Amino acid sequence: MTHPLALVTGASSGIGAATARALAAAGHEVVCAARRTDRIADLAAEIDGRAVTCDVTDPDAVAALAAEVGDRLDVLVNNAGGAYGLDPVATGDVEDWRAMYEVNVIGTLRVVQALLPSLVAAEGVIVNVGSIAGRTSYEGGAGYTAAKHALATMTETMRLELVDQPVRVTEIAPGMVQTEGFSLTRFKGDRERAEQVYAGVAEPLVADDIAEAITWMATRPRHVNIDLMVIKPRAQAAAHKVHRE
Ligand SMILES: NC(=O)c1ccc[n+]([C@@H]2O[C@H](COP(=O)([O-])OP(=O)(O)OC[C@H]3O[C@@H](n4cnc5c(N)ncnc54)[C@H](OP(=O)(O)O)[C@@H]3O)[C@@H](O)[C@H]2O)c1
Repeated sequence: MTHPLALVTGASSGIGAATARALAAAGHEVVCAARRTDRIADLAAEIDGRAVTCDVTDPDAVAALAAEVGDRLDVLVNNAGGAYGLDPVATGDVEDWRAMYEVNVIGTLRVVQALLPSLVAAEGVIVNVGSIAGRTSYEGGAGYTAAKHALATMTETMRLELVDQPVRVTEIAPGMVQTEGFSLTRFKGDRERAEQVYAGVAEPLVADDIAEAITWMATRPRHVNIDLMVIKPRAQAAAHKVHRE
């Protein structure tokens, strides 16, 4: 029996790894892509999937990923991404801004362009992992919120452009999710600062919460397009309005 095929980018950690596991549990063969080969190799072995080392900002690596996936793809989860820094616009690091745009937006663009024919051939679904940062602004966040706003508008535009094609285009926009890498990456390895983000929050979301939601979005019948799912912990009313005990 052939299983539906899914590709998850950024599958070496956090939301991506949890999503690869959840899609596998739901009956998919999963291609796990990320830069850290050892991690995705272990995950692929665990879920009986395939690992492909890929930096989504590298055109040759994305072309090789698409070749490995082949001419049919049922589910594409564009999850590779992240935030670098929390500086005000006035003093923000231009290279951080460029890197955030490169991974969250251009990386997604490259993967979508490479795999759209395979998704159309399989009547597949794209799930872009956006953020509430793509719907609102907060102090220090502009480099990241600008990139996730760009991803949100790219998702909406694709839905308009592809309305006559057998492919669905969706976005999940999580709020605070306590993952292995997100805040550590934002604060460039400063563990104490990273932990402060979740201090006193009784129950932030965890990667499995998002993975479950993505899997639900990806497994609706072919005529059902979940345009956008915004998902936050109960203790978070807005990006900057978090209840701490
Ligand atoms: N945590 C949150 O609060 C939150 C909220 C809303 C949205 N999000 C979004 O959710 C996604 C996953 O974040 P997370 O919280 O799970 O963080 P994470 O644990 O740091 O995971 C990030 C993943 O992205 C991969 N990645 C980063 N740059 C890449 C590149 N150039 N090419 C390929 N893969 C790359 C990383 O793998 P390698 O380093 O091995 O390449 C890693 O697997 C991101 O798009 C993030 O913006 C997170």
